[in-house]
Amino acid sequence: MSCSLRILGVPGSLRAASVNRRLLQLLAGQMPDGMGMSLYAQLGELPLFNPDVEFPPPAAVVHWMTALQRADIVLIASPEYAHGVTGVIKNALDWAVSSEVMVNKPVLVLNASPRAQHADAALRETLAVMNARLMTEASVVFPMLGYRGTDEALLASPDFVQARCQVFEVVSRLATHPAGAAPSAS
Ligand SMILES: Cc1cc2nc3c(=O)[nH]c(=O)nc-3n(C[C@H](O)[C@H](O)[C@H](O)COP(=O)(O)O)c2cc1C
Repeated sequence: MSCSLRILGVPGSLRAASVNRRLLQLLAGQMPDGMGMSLYAQLGELPLFNPDVEFPPPAAVVHWMTALQRADIVLIASPEYAHGVTGVIKNALDWAVSSEVMVNKPVLVLNASPRAQHADAALRETLAVMNARLMTEASVVFPMLGYRGTDEALLASPDFVQARCQVFEVVSRLATHPAGAAPSAS
């Protein structure tokens, strides 16, 4: 297994108590041996996307694009707002559309809420049109919305364990067979 695999977690919520960020933090704390995951915490610093100011890009955009460029795998966990994706994640992805940075990039779309199906579908569609390598078998639901228990209890719950296994199985496979791990896109 490669120790140099770079995994980037991207929470699509700016809320201090974000369930989606908590999900990514929990996964980051449990990564398989030899792997590390960092969270991108600066999406709120991106300006609203405007093609007129794309070249040269603002500093915050350069920072975001560099993080994406360096990542071997991207895990996105983002909530649903009014049956759509959050402006935060859509804005961030819009900045990346005209570059090649997401082409063939392995991406897992994690969903912290079983009822958030519109945003999940819309996010997958956006990533598909960007030609990201959507790892559908590991783009799973972690039923965390409304959960009031401790992290320990959540981490031990069967639904969480099952979803985490699916994520880590694909991440581990990508670490050993970057090009050959199960395919994507739908
Ligand atoms: C403005 C707004 C709109 C929302 N719309 C939906 C929705 O359409 N469907 C849904 O399942 N949840 C909706 N929610 C609930 C959020 O998905 C839920 O609060 C989630 O925890 C937010 O993610 P976060 O905890 O990572 O910030 C909405 C929340 C807000 C604040």
